[in-house]
Amino acid sequence: MKLLVTGGAGFIGSAFVRLVLKEHPRFRVVNLDKLTYAGNLENLAEVAESPKYRFVKGDIADGEAVEKLFAQEKPDAVVHFAAESHVDRSILSPEPVVRTNFHGTFCLLEAARRNGAGRFLHVSTDEVYGSLEEPREADENYPLNPSSPYSASKAGSDLLALSYHTTYKLPVTVTRASNNYGPFQFPEKLIPLMISNALENKPLPIYGDGRQVRDWLFVEDHCRALLAVLENGRSGQIYNIGGSLALPNREVVERILEATDKPATLMTTVTDRPGHDRRYALSSAKLQRETGWAPLVSFEEGLPLTVRWYRDNSDWVRRVKSGEYQQYYERNYANR
Ligand code: NAD
Ligand code: DAU
Repeated sequence: MKLLVTGGAGFIGSAFVRLVLKEHPRFRVVNLDKLTYAGNLENLAEVAESPKYRFVKGDIADGEAVEKLFAQEKPDAVVHFAAESHVDRSILSPEPVVRTNFHGTFCLLEAARRNGAGRFLHVSTDEVYGSLEEPREADENYPLNPSSPYSASKAGSDLLALSYHTTYKLPVTVTRASNNYGPFQFPEKLIPLMISNALENKPLPIYGDGRQVRDWLFVEDHCRALLAVLENGRSGQIYNIGGSLALPNREVVERILEATDKPATLMTTVTDRPGHDRRYALSSAKLQRETGWAPLVSFEEGLPLTVRWYRDNSDWVRRVKSGEYQQYYERNYANR
């Protein structure tokens, strides 16, 4: 079975490609990635020479190139990760977010429709439900209420993908996962940013009061859920994927300080993110009921494992934090 994976050089996409090629010998993978600041072929070093793997550098928002690749490769299934994935960057520069997340998804759907892909798995996010009051949990029928250009672009692309199922009978399935963490995550997101800053004795910038709540999911658990959906999920359906672990940001950072053996004085409060969602919470009951999936890695295991990975891979961190990252960091944090 040939999978066309988009965004396979990013954090979750690369974890998916590594897992599939290691544990599922019946799959071949074609990885289409533009290699933006977030794409990194080092994340795929262990599969680069596999005869079951092909890397193609390209832009999902380039309709002609996408069409050509589909015609050439005729994938059995598409697993669509490619996106501009960071909320703060989407606030600073929304244009590439709309282009990749919405128009890029459109180009893939069109090529899949014309070339007849057997399955289209659109990887989305719990952020499309917006902020939920305690004790609510979003199930798949919960209304969409996105707050940022990022989450709005994902909500739009979810609806577009589902419309291709309704209108053209394209076998689309949408997944909506909570906050992922684990090795190889670009250090712009909360956990890798706080770990890498702590290891370098740099300030840990907490937005606002730090009481915003996120549900944390270990990246491999997410990838296993996607495989379960690929194999047993139904077309035209949405499946939530959550880690069942809701924590306020400040507590996550305190646990990172503990795991890195650094003092609480590194924590600094900075101006809040505009439109910051207070609380995400979602139910994965449908996925668990239909596929038997459940998260395997607890935060007590996953966080120290992640801290260890960043400690052991300081060269990777140094490389991704050089160049463009410095400008982004300055732009996002300097005047907060
Ligand atoms: P990431 O930013 O680490 O990686 C994104 C990848 O997409 C990169 O390799 C990048 O080069 C590639 N890409 C970007 N624009 C492209 C384009 N125009 N054409 C081709 N490739 C392009 O992202 P991630 O955290 O791995 O997230 C992957 C997917 O999962 C996204 O769709 C995101 O919305 C979704 N998601 C992420 C999380 C999370 O916590 N990180 C949670 C739920 C859902
Ligand atoms: O919920 C799933 C989503 O999780 C994914 O769809 C997104 O791709 C992913 O980026 C993530 O979005 P968040 O905005 O929740 O993640 P982020 O890591 O940016 O922030 C997590 C929380 O930590 C959020 O409340 C903001 C806060 N934060 C973040 C950063 C980067 C800080 O307090 N300080 C920071 O420096």
